[in-house]
Amino acid sequence: EQLMTLDPAWLPAEAFRAIGARRVLVCAEDGPVVDTVLAEVARACARYGGQVHRDPSFDGAQLMLVLTGSGSLPSAAGDVAAEVSSGEPLGEEGYALARPGGTTVVLADGPVGLLYGLFHVARLGTAAFDGWHPLEARRPAKPRRMLDHWDNVDVHPVMGQVERGYAGGSIFWRAGQPRDLARVREYGRLLAAAGVNAISVNNVNVHATEARLLTDRLHQVAAIAAVLRPYGIRVHLSVSFASPMVLGGLPTADPLDASVRQWWADAVSAVYAAIPDFGGFVVKADSEGQPGPFGYGRTHADGANALAAALAPFGGVVHWRAFVYNHHQDWRDRSTDRARAAHDHFAPLDGQFADNVILQVKYGPVDFQAREAVSPVIGAMASTAVAVELQVTQEYTGQQRHVCYLGPLWSWVLGFPFSRRTVAEVAAELVAVSNVGDDPFWTGHPLAQANLYAFGRLAWDPSLDPVAVLDEWISLTFAPCPSPLRAALHEIMDSSWSVYESYTAPLGVGFMVDPGSHYGPSVDGYEYSRWGTYHFADRDGVGVDRTRASGTGFTGQFPPPWRDVYESPDSCPDELLLFFHHVPYTHVLRSGLSVIQHIYDTHFDGVARVVQMRRRWAEVADFVGQARHARVAELLDEQVRSATEWRDHINTYFYRKSGIPDARGRRIYA
Ligand code: GCU
Repeated sequence: EQLMTLDPAWLPAEAFRAIGARRVLVCAEDGPVVDTVLAEVARACARYGGQVHRDPSFDGAQLMLVLTGSGSLPSAAGDVAAEVSSGEPLGEEGYALARPGGTTVVLADGPVGLLYGLFHVARLGTAAFDGWHPLEARRPAKPRRMLDHWDNVDVHPVMGQVERGYAGGSIFWRAGQPRDLARVREYGRLLAAAGVNAISVNNVNVHATEARLLTDRLHQVAAIAAVLRPYGIRVHLSVSFASPMVLGGLPTADPLDASVRQWWADAVSAVYAAIPDFGGFVVKADSEGQPGPFGYGRTHADGANALAAALAPFGGVVHWRAFVYNHHQDWRDRSTDRARAAHDHFAPLDGQFADNVILQVKYGPVDFQAREAVSPVIGAMASTAVAVELQVTQEYTGQQRHVCYLGPLWSWVLGFPFSRRTVAEVAAELVAVSNVGDDPFWTGHPLAQANLYAFGRLAWDPSLDPVAVLDEWISLTFAPCPSPLRAALHEIMDSSWSVYESYTAPLGVGFMVDPGSHYGPSVDGYEYSRWGTYHFADRDGVGVDRTRASGTGFTGQFPPPWRDVYESPDSCPDELLLFFHHVPYTHVLRSGLSVIQHIYDTHFDGVARVVQMRRRWAEVADFVGQARHARVAELLDEQVRSATEWRDHINTYFYRKSGIPDARGRRIYA
């Protein structure tokens, strides 16, 4: 396994120069996570000429990393500690930073907090050592910040090693066997620096081999957990709801059956014997063919609670996914609406879930589209812990061949106000599908690393400005980043999500993708299929009527004011118009353009902007390593090709349907 060629992503050696050039005092008793801190500091100092000290009486430190409760504190740290202790507790993961005089002091109550504090100093760089810094205490907004891997152990005949993976094979397994864990260790380091503290290691679609990670392949999960523990990361597992049958040989998986419950209890205690800090289970049940409680006439609360009961004595949790809908829909049936399904199934169950169940809800009601409404389920579960699920892997946003920085999409979702509280406030935690594979750049597209970084940072603090997070990523990744490169990266990436949206998804209609692969245009690809994702374009108009007045009634799942805002095409935001309404091509948007002219304009404009991205990237070749520059350049060629294909496909399709020419006379292939 070639670790030598692995890209350092946002932790190149240079990102630690400011730390490594200084006298660093680490006051903390050794332990797995403190050892990580020490190793980071030692490595940086060895490279940049600094020194590591361990004796609290050393008085020449320029940086102090101090764990409270580790005996007598150096005096500068003592003052900071006194100030910290008068405020809210830092908690296991929080840290405080201050620079009262010539010493930068980082203080934490727990080892993981100290590690996060160290990475914070790396983010600050030399600024951490300039002037006077008042005390600032930082704590994560969410206790769990989790990535779900959709990795298979075996190569799946259709989905491959990683379902919806666009960065090569799995970092955990190769064709049925565990891989060298060195790469997983590096992954843990990157995740910790971004603030992620939990991962689920395998695909939510649990196939036969992967089901056995719970039993006879458990040692493989334990090995991953051991490598990630020193980075403050806990491991979770996707399990099959039918495990008692497929693994235990029981005749049923009925969640209310005593022998089934006993089977889960026994399985869980074996897991905790092997992995004492095991996080819990992720479950995709009654979803796209996976087994679930419906098979036994039970509710999803019954199902989730059965697994939760087994995990509760050990402090484990169940992430129970709300992605439940009829995937054998008849396109002729206009009364069924996939967007409604999760709310129809789960809202009535609010209050029935055990305390250690977390309902994991995709951010949109359909499926990770570049633009769709925010899922009303998130606002409907006042008595249930909800995890909002994002998709870092770019299944519907260019598959890591297109540049698409997703921070602004996620910030839009997180800031969406349900009644009085935003999604970020309602969510108990944030979860996302990982975009990492065994590619040397981790994420296939080198610029897609920014999405992984941004997920961690926004899960830590959802109020961060996504462009500021991107800037942080740029500063670390390209350290020291020359200003022309920084400017070009912002120009290419800041609005790349809206660029992607502009040439693929007019006005929230979504799903005009190639069925199966989900890459590239196929306007009618899903139109007569069983998947429930239709646009209903005809000669007069396009869009899905989801109103209460004349459509599927989906708008009624929202609390005020949204149920009324979305109900009328006059108040519905343009970008979601076709998600909620079927309107004529001549319908005039709030922007003043007709729907058809908007479609033409955005598709022409989108391609022009991608061409401009490619030009900007070519200009900064001298500032970027050759391999990275070449990889991005090659992918930008593909993005230009693909965006052009999207533009022509969509423009031609709607020109043929509507017969309305482009008001600006540009070329549309009739
Ligand atoms: C999407 C994706 C599937 C995945 C599913 C899920 O539909 O295409 O590959 O299994 O989401 O989230 O469970």
